[in-house]
This record gives sequence, C-alpha cells and structure tokens, in this order.
Amino acid sequence: MFKIPLSYNEIDAKALYEVLLKYQNLNHEELVLDLEKLASSRLLNKPVVALSSGTAAVHLALMALGIGSGDWVVVPTFSYVASVNPVLYTGAKPVWVDSEPTTWNLCPVLLEQALRKFNARTKRIKAIIVVHNYGVPADMARIQEVAKQYGVPIIEDAAEAWGASIQNEPCGTLGDIGVFSFNNNKTITAFGGGLITTSNSKWEKRIRLLAAQARLPKSYYVFNEVGYNYRISPLTAAYGLSQIQRDKEYVSSRQQVFGQYCKQLLPIEGLTSAMALDGHIASRWLSAFRFPKRTKVKEFVKLSDNQRIEVRIGWNPLHRMKHLSGYPTFLNGTAEALFKEVFCLPSGQNLTQSEQENIIIALRHSLGYK
Ligand SMILES: Cc1ncc(COP(=O)(O)O)c(C=O)c1O
Repeated sequence: MFKIPLSYNEIDAKALYEVLLKYQNLNHEELVLDLEKLASSRLLNKPVVALSSGTAAVHLALMALGIGSGDWVVVPTFSYVASVNPVLYTGAKPVWVDSEPTTWNLCPVLLEQALRKFNARTKRIKAIIVVHNYGVPADMARIQEVAKQYGVPIIEDAAEAWGASIQNEPCGTLGDIGVFSFNNNKTITAFGGGLITTSNSKWEKRIRLLAAQARLPKSYYVFNEVGYNYRISPLTAAYGLSQIQRDKEYVSSRQQVFGQYCKQLLPIEGLTSAMALDGHIASRWLSAFRFPKRTKVKEFVKLSDNQRIEVRIGWNPLHRMKHLSGYPTFLNGTAEALFKEVFCLPSGQNLTQSEQENIIIALRHSLGYK
C-alpha cells in the first residue's frame, strides 16, 4: 500500500452515523430522494437521478439517447476507460477524438472533422462524450457550437469535475446529459455511486425506468424490455448526503493543494498544467502537471514508487488498447504526448503540508532543479 495515496478520502464515520440516525425511522427511499434534491441544488436545480456508479450513469445516458448497435459515438481517447465501456455495452462503436493542448480535453477542431466525415450525409455519429479531465473544464463553447451545427447531443462526463464550472454554470449541466461519479477516489465520494442530470423530462423518466429493471409502475410485476439494477443503495446515498453538504470545503481543499504545487513547481522551466480557459473554474480533482523531458518524468515516477508515494502518469490513450484499437481515429498527437509527459501528484483530503513539501522536493530533484 502507498504511504501517500493519490486521492485519498478519509472515512467520515461520524457524518455517516449522523445521517443514518436522522433517517433510521424513515423509508430508505427518502435517503435517495434527499440526495437527489441536495445534488440538484448544486446543479442549477436541474433534475437529478442517483445511480450505482458513474459508469452506470454513462450507460443510461447513452440508452436515454437511444444509442445502440450500428451507431457511432465520439469518445475522447485521453480519458479513463469508463468513458468508453458503456458505449460498447450498447453495441455502438467509438470514434476516437484527440485532445487540444490547452485544457487536455476534446479538441473541437478534430471533433468537427469527425462529424463532417461521418455525418455530412448520414447522421451516423449519434452522440458526443466530452470529459473534463482531472476537473479542468473542456472548451464547451466551441464544442457546443460544433455539436449544434451537426445536431448531435452531448453527454458531459463530469465524473472527475464536481465543483468545476464555466461562467458560473457547473460542469455537468452544460451538455444535454451530465454524469458524475462518487467513487472512493473522487473529490466528493460516497464510496460508490453516481449521478445523472438532464433537463429533458422524457430522458429522465427513461433513465429512472431503466435503472430499476425497467419495471413498469403497476401493482403486479410487468416488464416490457431489458432493464438494469443501477439504483444507488440507500447506504451509499447516506454517505453521499453527508459529503455533498460539505462539497465546497472539499473542492477548495483540492484547489489549494494544486495552488501550492503550482507555487513551488511552475517556476521550473518547461513545467505546465492544463489551463482553465477564461471564465472557467477548474476543480483540480487531481493535481496534474506536464513536463516535456520524458525520461525525467519516468525517473520521478519510479522514485515516487520506491518511496511509496502514489504518482500516476497521464491516461494511456484508449485507442492504443488492443481491443479498442480498430475504431476510427481523429488524432493530433496530443494524447500520445500527454501520456508520456503528464503525471498526477497526490491530491487527497489527508495530504499534510509536510508530505506535500517532500513530494515537491523529490520532484524538483528528479527534474534536475534544486
Ligand atoms: C471520466 C470518467 N468517467 C466515468 C467514470 C466512472 O465512474 P465510476 O467509477 O463511478 O463508475 C470515471 C471514474 O472512475 C471517470 O474518471
């Protein structure tokens, strides 16, 4: 086990106990409903459905849009695999689109090329998945412009971006459907669980139906189609409730950790980070930096590993995975470069000042700066 984990969240036993005491004589469903209400209050009061994971949320977002066999979906190649697995569950196929180098997220220029190629005559790409990597908002204005031009809906995979915003609108509320994850390493955790938000009441209804085994609301059991067991558990919802209540504090703690790293590290020539565009606020789920001297990055990761400090390099581009490599790509080399040059530093709740200082010293040393 790592001495300093990448993204640790302390178990807040007291907070969970307090929530459980408050709800112990109520219907369990109240916990889920109240989690949805609280989450909605953070998401411009848009309707919210709580689910068992962020992956389930991406899956049901695709299902709500009617994505299925034979359809194509734009997926950023620079992301975690959970952005694409649900596309494959539906029988649809990914069209890989690379990142732009400023935010490290979906490149609007390549997105346009993909849509032009696939959708000029037939609307073959049926959805666009946009990810806000590490909590840094994507260039949504330009992405939305392109999506609108071709009439393709956007699924905003904001799994890593609770607390990030664009012109005061939370990431996850800007696309047609937004998705969040509350897994144990996220800024806001419920030790599992996820959320989906959409203003489209038809999609919301469909998501609720599919998440509950597609059981029709009758006094006897009746089902007309395949459904899923994707509802959040009330116990997970209880923990989520306790954590969302304090979300500003948790988001700000990660932003401060990032700020401290920046202060000490950005004077190093060549070292950069993904940037928040004008009017964008990054939540900095993970403090991620980029350094162009690749052997030095490798050395630092090895050294950290030896010292049991958990440092992760950037996402391995998904189109490079054997089983994901046969699909169309729109690449510019950014994801490939990020994979070799990006590293994520410990950013968790329990990171102490002295631990952070030690990480900074080790990093400066590895990169050849004193
Ligand atoms: C971009 C992205 N999408 C989706 C997910 C899936 O979330 P979960 O782990 O809750 O299934 C994650 C996190 O794991 C993620 O980072």
